[in-house]
Amino acid sequence: MAEGVIYSLFSLQKSEFVLTTILDLIILKKSGVTMCGIVGYIGTQAATDILLAGLEKLEYRGYDSAGIATVWEGEVNCVRAKGKLHNLRSKLEQIETPAQIGIGHTRWATHGKPEEYNAHPHMDTAKRVAVVQNGIIENYRELREVLKGKGHQFLSETDTEVIPHLIAEFLKNLPTSSPSSASSGFLDAIRQAVNHLHGAFALAVISADYPDELIVVRQQAPLVIGFGQGEFFCASDTPAIASYTRAVLPLENGEIARLTPLGVEIYNFAGDRLKKQPRLLNYNPAMVEKQGFKHFMLKEIHEQPGVVTASLEAYFTNLGESSESPINLGLPASLYNDLEQIQIVACGTSWHAALIGKYLIEQLAGISTQVHYASEYRYAPSPVTANTLIIGVTQSGETADTLAALAMEKERRQGKEPKYQARLLGITNRPESGLGHLVPHIISTLAGIEIGVAATKTFTAQLMAFYALALDLAARRQTVSKDILEKIINGLWQIPKQIEATLESQEHLTEQLAHEFAETQDFIFVGRGINFPIALEGALKLKEISYIHAEGYPAGEMKHGPIALLDAKVPVVAIAIPGSVYEKVISNAQEAKARDSRLIGVTPVNDGEAAEIFNDLLPVSHVDELLSPLLTVVPLQLLAYHIAARRGLDVDQPRNLAKSVTVE
Ligand code: AGP
Repeated sequence: MAEGVIYSLFSLQKSEFVLTTILDLIILKKSGVTMCGIVGYIGTQAATDILLAGLEKLEYRGYDSAGIATVWEGEVNCVRAKGKLHNLRSKLEQIETPAQIGIGHTRWATHGKPEEYNAHPHMDTAKRVAVVQNGIIENYRELREVLKGKGHQFLSETDTEVIPHLIAEFLKNLPTSSPSSASSGFLDAIRQAVNHLHGAFALAVISADYPDELIVVRQQAPLVIGFGQGEFFCASDTPAIASYTRAVLPLENGEIARLTPLGVEIYNFAGDRLKKQPRLLNYNPAMVEKQGFKHFMLKEIHEQPGVVTASLEAYFTNLGESSESPINLGLPASLYNDLEQIQIVACGTSWHAALIGKYLIEQLAGISTQVHYASEYRYAPSPVTANTLIIGVTQSGETADTLAALAMEKERRQGKEPKYQARLLGITNRPESGLGHLVPHIISTLAGIEIGVAATKTFTAQLMAFYALALDLAARRQTVSKDILEKIINGLWQIPKQIEATLESQEHLTEQLAHEFAETQDFIFVGRGINFPIALEGALKLKEISYIHAEGYPAGEMKHGPIALLDAKVPVVAIAIPGSVYEKVISNAQEAKARDSRLIGVTPVNDGEAAEIFNDLLPVSHVDELLSPLLTVVPLQLLAYHIAARRGLDVDQPRNLAKSVTVE
């Protein structure tokens, strides 16, 4: 009945809210929509401490503002603070609340100032319902107008604020007037409200009138429930709750759960009860601690030898049924048969890994491969053909642009023969993520959780997935001989030791260089062939954590324009590894030197020719050019790290960034 009341109200005013997509998008982007981390608790302990500890583990998802709401003595107590979590923590020190139920949020705003009034939780006008959200409510503007017309007052610019008001509206219209006598009324009101929301979102909701219920919702944004003894948790990501319980249940899209001190009930959006069992989390809490390193990023750089070993053990030793290939990615042969081309979609560092993947697949397996920015592909896709494999690469499995491109691709293929529909593959470090729900096949990368916002070990893990995929394709298509295949695989097994040696020798060298370059304003990175994407990655690492302007170019392109930028103030980092393009890179580097640039070379140890040309050397072990990206990226990660640390910057949480970019 209540649903009908609200719905007819919307229908009446519908004509006023017909927006063009573009206008809607612009308004949405100006509104301070969020991508972020949410956490919730109900049980017997003090909720505030648990929420704060959880938010600390989620801060990598956004850190513009934070807030928590608890229910105590018949009231919702909401405390919010602009800036990082420590601001919220200081505010909470002055407020003691023994509340045993609460929700928390850490925010990354897309547009609009990250002010306290935009911070979550948001409440309804009577301050009885509090909501935290991760995602976007696309139709918030029309909902807000309707609700304003019904007397609701809005205090923020966010899309989220419509949710508590909408829930309050449905609560008002519940069949029973006494909230306490309708224990599932709260759930019903929220279910009705979410049926009116368009977009991708995860929610946690509490109410002063339902002090024993924490309701959580998932619709295309991650949300996991944790099961304790007489206490239950929810969070955007498992590290937030892993210190309290290992029994977890990731919600699926279109599910809503009611957490009470007595247990957890799960429903779909239609209100049908679902039967689900939690599973045991395989999780090592040490992974989300710094373990003596000053920053997570430095720790994660040092974890790369282990990541390569884990990948080798998983992909190269556990042989599948196929005698055609010595690689086991657990993928069906139908995915590979008659492949004519591959399209890869990705963003940022994952896009750089994909460029190396393209090189490997084309050079080893002879399959034409294109790499697209996911944000571009969605609006200008390549023609769909039956024998094209689409690969989405995303370490988080949550990047909105990548998921949207894949969802679009999936839709384009619906209704066509099964072959079309099966040829969607994801490469991710989080197989339980949104990506895992979207594509039929996954290659899991084995980096373990990465906390630093700048991707390091997850990049290396993605490269390992691409080496395995390209070699698997090459073996099945017999495009390389068994001897060469064996040589490459043997070379890969040497990489962990070689990264270790690089880390050992580079730590000091890059720190010294950082001292000299901490105040430099512009950097150029150049490489060719398989090391061109490493130049891009080196530049991205420096930009994102040190805020120094940096560009990556194919070394041969410099003379077509960018060389005009060079002078004594602009250092050039060149990746020069013996192989097909070594002499070319060296001569491009000399052209830069002739323009007075200081030259830094990422070259093999004891390379006499390089020593004569470069002003500074960042040597790596001797390695085949084909495998060299696994080594050449390491000194560039360290260089960026030490420059940022030297500049006194927040290496793990650089300004304006978030680890998971869950908005378009
Ligand atoms: C990497 O250092 C960046 N933080 C960023 O470019 C990142 O790679 C990009 O947002 C894609 O993320 P994903 O791999 O989780 O999709």
